[in-house]
Amino acid sequence: MEAVVDQLEQGVRDSLEQQAFRPLGLATGRTMEPLYAALVSRLRDWPTDRLQLLRQRWLSFNLDEYVGLSPEHPSSFSAFMGHHLVRPLGLHPAQVLLPDGAAADPEAAADHFAAEIRSAGGIGSQLLGLGSNGHVGFNEPPCGPDMRCRVVRLSPATRSQNAPAFQGSPGLVPEQAITLGLHEILAANELHLIVTGAPKAGILRKALDLDGDPEVPASWLRRHPKLWLWVDDAAWGEEGH
Ligand code: GLP
Repeated sequence: MEAVVDQLEQGVRDSLEQQAFRPLGLATGRTMEPLYAALVSRLRDWPTDRLQLLRQRWLSFNLDEYVGLSPEHPSSFSAFMGHHLVRPLGLHPAQVLLPDGAAADPEAAADHFAAEIRSAGGIGSQLLGLGSNGHVGFNEPPCGPDMRCRVVRLSPATRSQNAPAFQGSPGLVPEQAITLGLHEILAANELHLIVTGAPKAGILRKALDLDGDPEVPASWLRRHPKLWLWVDDAAWGEEGH
């Protein structure tokens, strides 16, 4: 985890110094919790003037949000970002953008979110976790590499995986979400796929062995010229690759 935080911290510092801050692409999920904790603690140790600059220039876009949850809902990804990043770093919520899950027209909200990313010049570094069924963002299988930001229906596997944030009940997990597509994800300057824990070893292996298979959406990531893989021993598996 420290290694990926080193790299992210360096990337943020470089882009501030070059006055060319490209928006970060952020992810939610349990994998990201220790990463944000470590990144926040590093950034808060920065000299005050550089931290001020960071607060002025920060702009990030999250991958996804549940349809039907307002930012105030405690299980929304917006609330997650408020808790793990916005408040600890002293950012303004408008600097950490997510799709509007509470919009009356979620398809229009997805189009609007994609347009905001385009007008910000696209994503610089994109963080990604890995779903237990091989999804990235909420790009559920089957999914091709040209799919764009849109409303998706969540699979039973994903609703079970994310149930711990909804009192342990898959039925309380919203049925739909807005997600960036693989199209926008693959358009980022660089990708950082972070995978931890033994339960992800099998799906990680599939994602790395397959060369772009709709049944394992993460397998398309191999086609990106700058894919960084950050994996702990448990997720790498005992046999190694
Ligand atoms: C969630 C999110 C993904 C996340 C993944 C892994 O459903 N939509 O962006 O990366 O699943 O979650 P976790 O880190 O909790 O295993």
